[in-house]
Amino acid sequence: MSLKIALIASEAVPWCKSGGLADVVGALPRALQEAANAAGESVEVALFLPMYRQVRQFIARHGHQVTDTGIALRAPMGGGGEPFRLLHAYGRDGESVYFIDAPHRYDRDGLYDDADHRAFDDNGERFALLCRAALEVMPRVMGGPPDILHVHDWQASLAPVYLKTRYRHAYPKTRSVLTIHNLAYQGVLPGSMRGALDIDASFLQPDRGEYYGNLNLLKGGMAYADAVTTVSPTYAREIRTPHYGCNLDGFVRAHVPVYGILNGIDTDAWNPATDPLLPARYDADHLEGKAVCRELLLEAAGLRPAPGEALLGVVSRFAGQKGIDLIAELVPHLHHLGARLVVLGDGDPELEDRFRWLGWVFSHHITVRIGFDPALSHRLIAGCDALLMPSRFEPCGLTQLYAMRYGTVPIVHAVGGLRDTVVDPGDAGLAAGEGTGFRFEHPTPEGLGWALARAVRMYRERPAGWRAIMQAGMRQDFSWARSAATYLELYRRLGG
Ligand code: ADP
Ligand code: GLC
Repeated sequence: MSLKIALIASEAVPWCKSGGLADVVGALPRALQEAANAAGESVEVALFLPMYRQVRQFIARHGHQVTDTGIALRAPMGGGGEPFRLLHAYGRDGESVYFIDAPHRYDRDGLYDDADHRAFDDNGERFALLCRAALEVMPRVMGGPPDILHVHDWQASLAPVYLKTRYRHAYPKTRSVLTIHNLAYQGVLPGSMRGALDIDASFLQPDRGEYYGNLNLLKGGMAYADAVTTVSPTYAREIRTPHYGCNLDGFVRAHVPVYGILNGIDTDAWNPATDPLLPARYDADHLEGKAVCRELLLEAAGLRPAPGEALLGVVSRFAGQKGIDLIAELVPHLHHLGARLVVLGDGDPELEDRFRWLGWVFSHHITVRIGFDPALSHRLIAGCDALLMPSRFEPCGLTQLYAMRYGTVPIVHAVGGLRDTVVDPGDAGLAAGEGTGFRFEHPTPEGLGWALARAVRMYRERPAGWRAIMQAGMRQDFSWARSAATYLELYRRLGG
């Protein structure tokens, strides 16, 4: 019998994206289908997303077929409920994608915030509506309640809460899984909003969703879900400590076991041998195409490194998490290090300004592109020699995985998923092909500078060693197979 799985999330490729969450949720339907097929089973996956303006634009641009299901309801929330329509499309792998169409909540330029990066003040209502509307329609469109409801991050965290309270009779057998992609974003709302969101009074207990008198949606989701996962084994351990626990470490230690399941990547979308976004293609045994990508990136960036100088890259949200400020500290030293840098990112306005300024002052050594540009991210990752990720914390991180697959050596703070995916046995081991990148232990300019100096020296003085690291990275298997099989196992264990 086919296992029925409903996914609820606030973003998924190709429809809408602000970060790695979209890559993961977009890849899960196929990953789960393939893992099930490999085990001689079958699954039916449906995904529920908000109909953002970004989704509408994607659909219009690609002439994608979207149908109106004819379902138009009011999600029963405070104040007479929230009206929505339900639209449907087929995803890349034949999975059903349902869009909650409520223009008064979703038809805006940003997914979560406005052009000045100020969060919308009705995000609580917006994502409560996503959960509530999905639960209202799910049994009707899925031919009965799903076996598993797998929700992602705080935006979907009210779904397990509603499931166990308002919908317990409609979904007697459905089990829920909450995946935390980032514990730093919890969806904290004033306690006074409980009525407007129609959240059960039981939510207010301290070992549930109560949080210093407020409502904490992620914490509530963790309390009510049948299982909680996060996206790497190391991050699952780290969030039990005050340093990484974002004020929930005590709650996690006392109440909620969190399983770490490492993300995979979409190895078709990110394949240097076939990537249509690259000016030339290559693989681990034929690296000439990568040199072409590098040349064209340098030309586009207007950089002219001296022979032996490494080209470093950054593709990142500009947020405290990512340690982008540590990179800024080192820009004036690129000259001495013997490296050039290309940066693509956006987010925190202060960091954006700081990098614009650095790009202007140190224009021979750094080129900065402020913005969100997926096509450029492929060309940048392919064209660079090394990629910097000095994250202060990193639940999993996908960009370092893309980099390794593209023969671009990651230089990372040894934290979270970066520690789990980048192997650094020291210079000798690296040069012998036994490692995949450079790690450092302290997220400080000195720590990053130390790793950078090692990398740049290896690049300049031991080209064969550098090539061994590139090839070792390119031969890693970061596909979804193992992780998707682990999710399926978890679903089965829950009785799905
Ligand atoms: P996070 O989700 O915390 O931002 P990840 O490394 O998991 O970090 O995923 C980031 C995703 O967003 C990757 O697919 C990366 O390529 C993409 N990305 C980040 N910043 C940009 C940008 N400015 N332009 C295009 N893609 C970006
Ligand atoms: C979050 C995390 C990132 C992770 C991504 C996908 O955005 O910051 O580390 O890779 O989710 O799980």
